[in-house]
Amino acid sequence: MTVPITTRNANRNAPTDPLWYKDAIIYQVHVKAFRDANGDGYGDFQGLTEKLDYIANLGVTALWLLPFYPSPLKDDGYDIQLYEAIHPTYGNIEDFREFLEAAHARGLKVITELVINHTSDQHPWFQRARSAPKGSPERDWYVWSDDPKKYSGTRIIFTDTEKSNWSWDPVAEQFYWHRFFSHQPDLNFDNPAVLEAVINVMRFWLKMGVDGLRLDAIPYLIERDGTNCENLPETHVVLKKMRAALDAEFTNRLFLAEANQWPPDVIPYFGNSDECHMAFHFPLMPRMYMALRREDRTPIVEIMQRTPPIPADCQWAIFLRNHDELTLEMVTDEERDYMYNEYATDPRMRINVGIRRRLAPLLDKGRRQIELMNALLMSMPGTPIVYYGDELGMGDNYYLGDRNGVRTPMQWTDGKNAGFSEADSAALYSPVIVDPPYGFQGINVAAQERVKTSLLRWMRRLVGVRKEHRAFGRGTFEPIQAGNKRVLVFMRRFQGETLLCVNNLSRYAQFVELDLAEFHGCVPVDLWSNQPFPQIGELPYLLTMGPHGFYWFRLVSAEEAPPAAGTPDPGARKKS
Ligand code: NOJ
Repeated sequence: MTVPITTRNANRNAPTDPLWYKDAIIYQVHVKAFRDANGDGYGDFQGLTEKLDYIANLGVTALWLLPFYPSPLKDDGYDIQLYEAIHPTYGNIEDFREFLEAAHARGLKVITELVINHTSDQHPWFQRARSAPKGSPERDWYVWSDDPKKYSGTRIIFTDTEKSNWSWDPVAEQFYWHRFFSHQPDLNFDNPAVLEAVINVMRFWLKMGVDGLRLDAIPYLIERDGTNCENLPETHVVLKKMRAALDAEFTNRLFLAEANQWPPDVIPYFGNSDECHMAFHFPLMPRMYMALRREDRTPIVEIMQRTPPIPADCQWAIFLRNHDELTLEMVTDEERDYMYNEYATDPRMRINVGIRRRLAPLLDKGRRQIELMNALLMSMPGTPIVYYGDELGMGDNYYLGDRNGVRTPMQWTDGKNAGFSEADSAALYSPVIVDPPYGFQGINVAAQERVKTSLLRWMRRLVGVRKEHRAFGRGTFEPIQAGNKRVLVFMRRFQGETLLCVNNLSRYAQFVELDLAEFHGCVPVDLWSNQPFPQIGELPYLLTMGPHGFYWFRLVSAEEAPPAAGTPDPGARKKS
């Protein structure tokens, strides 16, 4: 078979492409943690705007911002006190507008948080509800009960801090429902007034110009007796109404579902292309770490086999790390034990049902492992999300409470406060990472700009190569069951382009024989160097791989293959 010429689509990411999120590469950042422009110890919108060139130069195409709204910050901003404003520490609406404009001017889309399952207990809606009479319309904005045994089949998510999903409110003289911290009462989505208010919040930010909304904790919107209160059909009705409102008034915007569930339970969040455009693939993430440590592709292959197809205009969001713990909710008990034993030997590294560590420390700073994991992130099906600082190999500090150890200030230079802030170090919202081997003196942007072989510069190349091939964002995923289980092999195909990705999960050199009969006569061309490899013939295709090595090839016909660099030119030899 001949494979047609690789299509290098010039016009991808065009602002008018409604499927822009399929080709996107997302950078996840916390305003608080990125750059403090006014010297008060907290990052702010002006600081983030200052650093937009850094983000754009990484090659990413979109930003996802953690919550930046007024909040008591007891859950780092996921406890919202006012939806339509900016936390004063981070700036004001004008600063936000300027940031948005500056991001758009650089071709960066902006995704923000729509946290609707719950509010802070300081939100005026809750304050009004608790003091309103029992059974009144105002009280009905939250979920109340006289009996704390109601919905008893519901699990607790923050197992380290909460004993029940109900808390007593002495003002209301009733229990209120909360799936997360007790200071985060759940809104009552059985009340149409709540949905209307939430849709108005959504409109506010979309009218401002944000390109996408991450819908936090959506499996828990609705509660019903006799169920586990997750993924209920009524929840999907709510989401369909929100999507209808989005589609009626806005174009080219995005809903990204945060539903930490098994794949068959996440699929309904895409609906019939009438709920969310994207959803995180939570179960894949821990399995990438498992496969790496076991030196066996099985966990990845199995979870992909268990992942049903999604509508053509929908997309997975994939990630290695984020602002939360490395969640182990979507693994078996045995797998969880394995992960804890391998990746969280010190009990302080554990929180709730997961591990509070960043990418580099999880991989013991192994450069080859970090590269391999990032290569998987950029080549598995879905839109990749890079967590700020992981492009440098930043460390963590699990002595800080909650998940704050993975939310420390961005490390820009080896100067004061890592170049993050001019404030006194004691005034910073969090200490910077100081100890070797992750201390800011060694791990920082300026140092990595100076060194050609730095992780940062390698990451830029990785992102650049990924962006040249639309099949990574849009293509099929076709695992190839090669004999050697230590090597994960898959193809990605889109329109005329065929990519072959080969990943050695082992710390030792490996070989792998691939059945590429379908591509007999074709030539694998390395995407990084444009170097052609030997033509595919009758025999199984043999590849040898260095420890934790990976190859990305495009398969082209012999006529299309570029000349090999460094191979003697027979014509030239004759002449001399
Ligand atoms: C999910 C967020 O990712 C997490 O950080 C937060 O604590 C919970 N939602 C509760 O809001």
